[in-house]
Amino acid sequence: MQPMEIKKGVYWVGAVDWGLRNFHGYSTERGSTYNAYLIVDEKIALVDTVKHYLFPEMLERIRSIVDPSRIDVIISNHVEMDHSGSLPKILKICPKAQIITSVNGEKGLKKHYDTTGWNIRAVNSGDQISLGGHTPTFVHTQMVHWPDSMVTYIPEKELLLSNDAFGQHVASTQKFEDELGWDIAKEEAAKYYANIVLPYGQQVNKALDVLSTLKIDMIAPSHGIIWRSNIKELLALYRKWANNATTRRSVVVYDSMWGSTAAMAGAIVEAFDLKGIPAKPMDLKTVHISDVMAEVLEAEFICVGSPTLNNGMLPTVAGFLSYMKGLAPKNRRGLAFGSYGWGGQSLGLIEEQLKSCGMNTFESVKHQYVPDTAALAVMTERVKEMLDD
Ligand code: FEO
Repeated sequence: MQPMEIKKGVYWVGAVDWGLRNFHGYSTERGSTYNAYLIVDEKIALVDTVKHYLFPEMLERIRSIVDPSRIDVIISNHVEMDHSGSLPKILKICPKAQIITSVNGEKGLKKHYDTTGWNIRAVNSGDQISLGGHTPTFVHTQMVHWPDSMVTYIPEKELLLSNDAFGQHVASTQKFEDELGWDIAKEEAAKYYANIVLPYGQQVNKALDVLSTLKIDMIAPSHGIIWRSNIKELLALYRKWANNATTRRSVVVYDSMWGSTAAMAGAIVEAFDLKGIPAKPMDLKTVHISDVMAEVLEAEFICVGSPTLNNGMLPTVAGFLSYMKGLAPKNRRGLAFGSYGWGGQSLGLIEEQLKSCGMNTFESVKHQYVPDTAALAVMTERVKEMLDD
């Protein structure tokens, strides 16, 4: 794939990770990209790099535009290694390049790499540098999603190089959301937000306040496609997600040993459906926890079911609850359900976890062994209580 000029003098020179299927525990069925950008002006600047094993791809793309030894400035918006992994390699080619990063970025880079001889300049939020006709301006976006995170704004091009913010894990030869399709781009942006950014709503809101003062014509993140036609809609979605705004819909996530908990899950889905509330059953035997989180992102009702196994819950359900707790969704209503043989401890444990996620929980529904019609009717009652509350 050739480099691409996204704005006059600004090129995408990143790398495409077509085969990536797992990004630190997040399932990436569409692969991903690591987007680096080259600004060609009186001075030449590279904005972020790519994962270390894709360095040759990035280098070739840069080489097709300029001699990489001419790079004067490398802007490191974020230390995480999917963006800084090729920094030591490119610096071998342009050793005098100045590295621009946030104060926390400088600390982070020094904890990742041997930075002896690196020319690092830490910038504050609002600082600018001049490349000639471009004046990259830096906005700290601390904890969106690392302490070092910042974005780079190019006022002359109304271009925001947003790093992880507004990213999505998509590998595609189509570079813009209006080429890939808004529906897929939005779906992947939602999954990305749910699995990476969700815990940091307060910080996202702060960042959105600052970004709302800028004229933005294009948002070029460090993963996936570039946004140019749906900026307003995208910013509105980020505001909604940052506020943990939910809609009246339900996620019913469960695992089952002999089908009883699955039957209870089915009864819950049907009960929501009868009330006109969309509900989605998600069996953890076949559905990845990162896909469940994508549904949790906008769902008001989170129902979690597990039978009791060895005085606890099934490991799939325990893993999901631990994952969800870390991502800290707010303003949800929770319900624990499950079948049991003699102990029934899974229910209390699930409820405890839902409460520790800050959820308003309802009386758990448990049933010994195989639920009959009367037992399943209890699910309908509980759903009614949840909706009436
Ligand atoms: Fe895409 Fe936080 O790294």
